[in-house]
Amino acid sequence: MAELVDARDLKSLGDNLCTSSILVPGTTDSKKDFKCFLKILFKPFPEKHIQQKNNMDKIEIQGGNRLEGEVIISGAKNAALPFIASSLLVDGKTMIANVPGLMDIKSILLLIQNLGAECEINKGNVMINGATVNSTKADYELVRKMRASILVLGPLVARFGHARVSLPGGCAIGARPVDLHLKALEALGADIKIEHGYIEANAERLTGSDIYFDTPTVTGTENIMMAATLARGKTILRNSAREPEIPALADALNAMGGDIRGAGTAIIEINGVRSLSSAEIKVIPDRIEAGTYMVAAAATRGDVVIKGCNPEHIGGIINKLRETGTKVDVSDNALRVKGVEKIKSVDIKTLPYPGFPTDMQAQFMALMTIADSSSMIHETIFENRFTHANELLRMGADISISDGNYARVRGIEHLQGAQVMASDLRASASLIIAGLIARGTTTINRVYHMDRGYDSIEKKFSELGADIKRIRTN
Ligand code: UD1
Repeated sequence: MAELVDARDLKSLGDNLCTSSILVPGTTDSKKDFKCFLKILFKPFPEKHIQQKNNMDKIEIQGGNRLEGEVIISGAKNAALPFIASSLLVDGKTMIANVPGLMDIKSILLLIQNLGAECEINKGNVMINGATVNSTKADYELVRKMRASILVLGPLVARFGHARVSLPGGCAIGARPVDLHLKALEALGADIKIEHGYIEANAERLTGSDIYFDTPTVTGTENIMMAATLARGKTILRNSAREPEIPALADALNAMGGDIRGAGTAIIEINGVRSLSSAEIKVIPDRIEAGTYMVAAAATRGDVVIKGCNPEHIGGIINKLRETGTKVDVSDNALRVKGVEKIKSVDIKTLPYPGFPTDMQAQFMALMTIADSSSMIHETIFENRFTHANELLRMGADISISDGNYARVRGIEHLQGAQVMASDLRASASLIIAGLIARGTTTINRVYHMDRGYDSIEKKFSELGADIKRIRTN
C-alpha cells in the first residue's frame, strides 16, 4: 500500500528535491526498474514555496575544528542537468543513476515535468519518460530559477521542431549571454526569434553544420551536441568546451544510439541519427564538490579521504593545492588530502578545462586568506565573480580587488567569525570554508544558493568533525 510522506523527511535526493506530497509504493507493487520508487506529485511551481522557505535558512559554524575522516562525493550537478535535458530527445524512458539531491536538479525536473515528461525517483535514480512530452514551452517562472534550463532548448527543437524557452536573464556572477547557443542552432538551420523575453526556435529538421564557438561554452557545447544528435547529416563543433561533463554527456547520448566522437577535445563530430532509444546512464562524480572538500581539508590543516571521485578530472585543483604545500595522495577513485601548518600563497588564474576552474576560485580565495604571504587571483571566465571577497573582508581578510578581475589576497593569521551573506553557489562554499577556519561563530545567510549545488553539505562536514548546523527559520 502506498503511504503519503512529507518530502522533508526524505534523505534521498535531498530535502530540496521534493516538497509536494510524495507517494511511496510498497515494494511488492514496484515497477521492474525500481524496487521501491517514489513518485513525485508536483504541484504547479511548488518550488516557489520552497524557495521562500529556504530563503530564510542560515548556516552556523563554530570555527576551529580540524577536518578528519572520509567523505563520499555525490554525482555532479553539471553532468546531471544535461543528462536530464537529454531525456527529451528520447521517445521512451531514460534511467539516470547517481543523481545528486539538489535544488537545481529539482528545478530541471520540474521543468521537464511541466513539458509533460513523467518523472520517477528512487534515491539517486531518476526515470524520465520522454514519450509523454506534450509541450515545447519552458516558462519564465521555471527558467528564471536556473540558467541551465536553457539546456532544454536544443533537445526540444531537435525532436519536436519547435521550442519556446524563456531567456534565462541576468545572473549574480555576470551577464552570461546565450548568444553562442542561438548562433549555433541557427547554423543547424533553426529559425530563431526573440519575442517578449522568449526564444522561439523552429526547424522542420535540423541539418548538420560546421560550427565554431567564439569562446568555449560548456552548456552551449552540450546544447548543440544534443541538438545535432538528431540533425540530418554531420555536425562538427570547433573550439568546444572540454569539461569532463561534455564527454560524459556524449557517452550518455551514444548509449541512447547517438554517434558522437571527439567529446573532451576541442573538435567534436556528431553524425546525426533519426531517433534515440531508452538507455541507462550514470552521472559522473562532482569534481567541484570534491575540490571544495579538498580545499576545506587543507584550510583546516585536516586529514581527509575523498572517496568516489575521479582524480583525473581534478588535476588543476590537485596541482594548485600541492603548490600550497598541502599533501595530496591520489589513488584510483579517491584522494587523501593532508593539510600543513604553513600554507603557501599561490597565484590562480581561472581558465576553461583543463585549467583551474572558475567554480573553485571562491573556495581557493578562502584558503589564501590564511596563507603565508600574498597571492593574486585572476578571474577570466565571469566578470563579477568576487562578491565573496566583500564577505571575507567582514571576517577580517585582507583582499583588494583591481580591474574587476584581479584579487590580491594577503594572508593573515586567522579569520574572525562574522555574519555573512552568500551571493552565489560557490561563494557560499567559500564562506563555509572561511567559517570552518575562523575564530568564533560564523553565520551564513541566504544558504539557498548553497542548496542549489551541494548535496547534504552540513551532514558531510559534520561527519568530518565540523561544528556546523542549519538554522531553519520556518
Ligand atoms: C557552466 C557551468 C558553470 C561554470 C561555467 C564555466 C553548468 C550547468 N554550469 O556554465 O558551473 O561556472 O560553465 O566553467 O554546467 N558565453 C557567451 N555566450 C554564450 C555562452 C557563454 O559569451 O552564449 C560566455 C560566458 O559569459 C562566459 C564564458 O562564455 O564568460 C563561459 O561560459 P559557459 O561555459 O557558457 O558557462 P555555463 O555553461 O553557463
